Amino acid sequence: MPAEHPERTALDTLDARPAPIALDEYAARRERLMAELPENAAVIVPGAGLKTRNRDSEYAFRQDSDFHYLCGFPEPDALLVLLPGREAGEAVLFCQEKDPLKEAWTGIRIGPEGAVRDYGVDEAFDNAERSRLNDLLDGRRSLYLPLADASAMALAENVRQSLSARARRGAIAPEHFGDVSAVLHELRLTKSEGELALMRHACRISAAAHRRAMRMSRPGRFEYQLQAEIEHEFVWHGARAPAYGTIVGGGANACVLHYVENAAELADDTLVLIDAGAEYALYAGDITRTFPVNGRFTAAQRALYDVVLAAEERAVAAVAPGVTLDAIHQGVVRDLTAGLIELGLLEGELDANIDSQAYRRFYLHSTSHWLGLDVHDVGSYRVDGEPRALEPGMVVTVEPGLYVPDADDIPAAYRGIGIRIEDDVVVTAEGFEVLTGDVPKRADEIEALMRGDDV
Ligand code: GLY
Ligand code: MN
Ligand code: MN
Repeated sequence: MPAEHPERTALDTLDARPAPIALDEYAARRERLMAELPENAAVIVPGAGLKTRNRDSEYAFRQDSDFHYLCGFPEPDALLVLLPGREAGEAVLFCQEKDPLKEAWTGIRIGPEGAVRDYGVDEAFDNAERSRLNDLLDGRRSLYLPLADASAMALAENVRQSLSARARRGAIAPEHFGDVSAVLHELRLTKSEGELALMRHACRISAAAHRRAMRMSRPGRFEYQLQAEIEHEFVWHGARAPAYGTIVGGGANACVLHYVENAAELADDTLVLIDAGAEYALYAGDITRTFPVNGRFTAAQRALYDVVLAAEERAVAAVAPGVTLDAIHQGVVRDLTAGLIELGLLEGELDANIDSQAYRRFYLHSTSHWLGLDVHDVGSYRVDGEPRALEPGMVVTVEPGLYVPDADDIPAAYRGIGIRIEDDVVVTAEGFEVLTGDVPKRADEIEALMRGDDV
């Protein structure tokens, strides 16, 4: 029987927290962004606002990733303006005003003085002073902003109209709106040492949570109870939110790729798939493990599991500079298809099954995505129409799976089994570094951990 109370000794080192991103790193990111822009451009990047959940209650605030990347300012309703070459300062922030009455309700606000002092922007103003934007942006030929953000577009359009209306008095309105996201997302794709330290921590917390869920699993418990174990561990270690909705899918629920109900009872002799990652300092972990609810794989479960595991281990080991995610995916497809033929779930020749995409009945998602401030992180997957070569500092997931339909033509022992194994991997100069190795994935090791052994 698995231990009722997971021990914490293995997790003690998690209490050593990595350093936050330094102010000069934020400044360097802003410099790099500005260096990519044409002459006489300016940037506006809004932070996130609060969203109403229901009457008088709001969803937990989560800062916009692009905004965070450029300044780290943590409050809602802020706006960052970058003005390359401006003598009075290139980084200007608008933020919530200090207000003793509001602060009595919702806590201390940083305010403009605090923003300059503690976040390293050059100048900051209350949001009530946003009309200053017109003067700040007067004479800039192009404005770079997130074009997909309607409120940013409305703001930029407002500035353009105000300055156009003052043209006779010498004001110069921007002629061009450019997409800051495209430039920024290329920068975000390669992680610095400071970012990697935060991601290692997010992944270690995520791994600890998966270990805890494995130990707490048994038939008769509910999917949401394993979710509770996972999220308990996240918060305990200072990761105050999951990086995405925790997925706990027992039995055939594992075949629903973005299952979020987490409401079913876990049955004996079935597998449970958990896809869950902690968000630490806004960086995401993203781990999937699949394990037997009762701690012991059946022969059929194990056979299918080992096919996914072998594909996953080979794919992880293939991560290196110059390799493409497309090539890694093709390798996974080949390994999974060969395994499906071996188990009698597909018939015929390997190449024929790959060419006809017969494997898609069992595996229809791709193997990898970028990981960073967003779980499906930004940055394009293709360059000039070709799959992009990996470079040191990129972080990717590797997450093959098999999802067997509950259909009459499938051998009964395999019906309704869903398996995915997901790790997070940094591309290094020599090859790869796995961030999520603290939680076992070999079937024997999972069984040993669930028995309460030291794994
Ligand atoms: N958790 C979402 C994903 O693995 O892509
Ligand atoms: Mn993923
Ligand atoms: Mn995942």
